[in-house]
Amino acid sequence: MLVDVLAAGLHPRVRSQANGSHYTSTDELPLVPGIDGVGRGSDGRLRYFILPDTAMGAMAEKTVIDVRRSIVLPDDADPVSVAAAMNPAMASWVALRQRVEFRVGQKVLILGATGNAGEMAVQIAKMFGAAEIVAAGRDIKRLAHLPALGATATVHLDGDSDAVADRLGQAASDVDIVIDYIWGEPAGAAMAAVITHRAEREKPLTWIQIGSVGGPTAPIPSAALRAARLSIVGSGQGSVSTRAILTELPALAKAILNGSFRIEARSMPLEQVEQAWAEAGRSRQRIVIVPQR
Ligand SMILES: NC(=O)c1ccc[n+]([C@@H]2O[C@H](COP(=O)([O-])OP(=O)(O)OC[C@H]3O[C@@H](n4cnc5c(N)ncnc54)[C@H](OP(=O)(O)O)[C@@H]3O)[C@@H](O)[C@H]2O)c1
Repeated sequence: MLVDVLAAGLHPRVRSQANGSHYTSTDELPLVPGIDGVGRGSDGRLRYFILPDTAMGAMAEKTVIDVRRSIVLPDDADPVSVAAAMNPAMASWVALRQRVEFRVGQKVLILGATGNAGEMAVQIAKMFGAAEIVAAGRDIKRLAHLPALGATATVHLDGDSDAVADRLGQAASDVDIVIDYIWGEPAGAAMAAVITHRAEREKPLTWIQIGSVGGPTAPIPSAALRAARLSIVGSGQGSVSTRAILTELPALAKAILNGSFRIEARSMPLEQVEQAWAEAGRSRQRIVIVPQR
C-alpha cells in the first residue's frame, strides 16, 4: 500500500543501516533511509509500519508498505510520539516477551539505561512487574532521572574501571536478567563484576544482547560461563521472527498512546534531513523526520 509518511524515527538502527555497520546492511545504493514510521494509507487509515529490509525507506514523502507489517492507529494518535517511541521501546518489550520467560518479581540490570532504549527498558521492566531495576549508564544527569521512571538503583559507569566494577557488582550481583545495549569491552567487564559478586552462582542469569554502542565484539571471560549459570541470548531482527515482533506491536502501541512512557521526541522537516542526521549523533532526544505536514 502506498502511504503518505507523517513521521519516521531517526534511530541508531537507521544510521547504522545507512553507514553499512548494521548486520542487515546490504550496502545497496541509492538508499532511502528509514526502517519504520507512521503514515496515512490509501485507505485513509493511520498506520504504524515496519518496512522489510529495503532500499526504499521511510524518510520520504511517500513509501510503500506491506500492510501485514503494519498496525492501524487511532485517528487522533500523535504520529511523532509513536514514530519516536516504537523502536526504542520494542527493544526491551520484545526481548522480555520473546527471548526470556520474564516473571513478575524478577530483578533486572539495564546496561546503557541512559539511552532512549535504556530509558524505555526501565519503564517497561517496571510495567512488567520487575521487583528491582538497576539502571547503569555513563551520563550522570540522565541517570539521575531514572528513579522517577522506575529504577530502584542506579550505577554510574564512568570513571576508574575497578570502582565501576565494584559499584556494578554491589548493586546487581543477584539480578535474573541483564538487558545490554552496550556490549563491547564494558559488557565483558560487567559480566565479570556481576558474577564475581554473585552469592548464589547456581541461580539462572540471562544476559540479553540488544545493542552494541560500546563495540561490536565483547571479551567474554570463560570463567563467567563456568562459574555461574549464565546464558547469553540476543534479541533483534532474526533472533525474533517478524511474526513474533508483529504480535507485540498492538499492545506496545497502546501503551505508548496511553502515555505510559516518557520519550523525548523532536520533529524536523525532511528538508532539514542533513542537519537532523548530524544532530542525531549528539542529541539526547529522538529525532523524527516529518515529511508531510
Ligand atoms: N535489537 C533491537 O531490537 C534493538 C532495538 C532498538 C535499539 N537497539 C540498539 O540499542 C542501542 C541503543 O539504542 P538507543 O535507541 O538507546 O540509542 P541512543 O538513544 O542513541 O542512546 C545510546 C546511548 O548509548 C550510550 N553509549 C554510547 N557509547 C557508550 C559506551 N561506549 N559505553 C557506555 N554507554 C555508551 C550513551 O549513553 P551515555 O550518554 O550514558 O554514555 C547513549 O545515550 C543501539 O545499538 C541500537 O541500535 C536494538
